[in-house]
Amino acid sequence: MFCGLMKTLSFSFPTEVVVEGMSDVVVPMLEAFVAKPSDYAPSKAPVFYNPVMEMNRDLAVLALQTLQRTADRELLVCEPLAGCGVRGIRLAKEVEGVASVFMNDINNEAYHLAKFNVERNGVADRIVVDNEDANISLSRFGAPLKRFDYIDVDPFGSPTPYLDSALRALRRGGCLALTATDVAPLCGIHPKACIRKYGGRPLRTEYCHELAVRLLAGALARTAAKHDIGVKMLFSNSSRHYVRLYATVDYGARKADASLSSMGYIHHCFSCFHRKVSMGLFSFGKFICPECNTEMKIAGPLWIGKIVDKVFTDSMDNEAKSKQLREKRRIHRLLASISGEAEAPITYYNVDAICDKIGLPVPPMKRVVTELETAGYKVSLTHFAHQGIKTDASASIVKQAVAGTC
Ligand SMILES: C[S@@+](CC[C@H](N)C(=O)[O-])C[C@H]1O[C@@H](n2cnc3c(N)ncnc32)[C@H](O)[C@@H]1O
Ligand SMILES: [Zn+2]
Repeated sequence: MFCGLMKTLSFSFPTEVVVEGMSDVVVPMLEAFVAKPSDYAPSKAPVFYNPVMEMNRDLAVLALQTLQRTADRELLVCEPLAGCGVRGIRLAKEVEGVASVFMNDINNEAYHLAKFNVERNGVADRIVVDNEDANISLSRFGAPLKRFDYIDVDPFGSPTPYLDSALRALRRGGCLALTATDVAPLCGIHPKACIRKYGGRPLRTEYCHELAVRLLAGALARTAAKHDIGVKMLFSNSSRHYVRLYATVDYGARKADASLSSMGYIHHCFSCFHRKVSMGLFSFGKFICPECNTEMKIAGPLWIGKIVDKVFTDSMDNEAKSKQLREKRRIHRLLASISGEAEAPITYYNVDAICDKIGLPVPPMKRVVTELETAGYKVSLTHFAHQGIKTDASASIVKQAVAGTC
């Protein structure tokens, strides 16, 4: 990944050069900031750069290119938490039709490094870098003719502190990209933190990563509704380290009401895996599992509507063919998998978890899929989990299929 090492006299810390896509940027030399094995180098370094997020940035290039082709005009882009500048530089260099990128970071060393990298990549005529708090910076672009077409919010932890100002700085039809790295709260390990940040209850179910995307989408929809803005989810994905969501916005109270009608709850039975979706922003009373009479636990309010647009995802996959990306095949596999589950039912079953519960060895996934398909059910695999199955079959049918193939 690293293409040569170099000390740069202009910085007070050791640096090296990395190549991502068509850009090469100076970043902190991460190994110099690891004092003990448990140290997480990106957050110890004076300026943030995380090589693990390269694919996250690759997908941003593909999503923005897809948006640009659809809009068929030049786009104004903003990255309010830019770190060393690699993301904004890549968007300017690798996406056709980007008129300008406004980058910002509160950290003074990040600001200087980002400016240096902008010059180094020959895009200083199209990128402005600022050194301000992200909310203050975004708020300066809240007036109608100043707004952006695309804002990429990629913070430490949760993006929710920036939602209001980012939404105000987006023009009609613009796209907001959100990264959430606080996966532990979103997946129910710290439920109180999730309720505080996202206004929804998480659940530690086997499909908690999908719930994480839906909680983030729900927080976005509700924040947007305050501003009479409706949202449409275009693309989302989840990995061990983060959850990512791309959504377009449209102005109007009716649009906002329509978005809120996609909010609801997911009731889950930890005893038999049965789950039930209920619509609405408010939930009352206890729910008893109709299959086994156990009290069901509840996640939400969260986004029940679509979290991926199949056409948009397929276009991203198509764009990948002509882009310079290190992990093209992996990206294609991921996008094909996400496209394949775009229309599938909400939540998924985890064959591992089922086998654990019923005390049987884990069968090959292919056999479980065939068993369900032969019985007439729709089945798709999911990028959320290797052992995950999305299907319209009930929990008891899935358990029978798993048991029958062991
Ligand atoms: C996860 S890093 C950004 C990484 C970058 N987007 C990338 O793709 O490499 C988050 C950045 O937000 C900056 N930051 C933290 N709080 C901020 C704030 N209130 N306003 C602006 N920047 C902030 C940090 O200095 C850090 O560089
Ligand atoms: Zn049950």
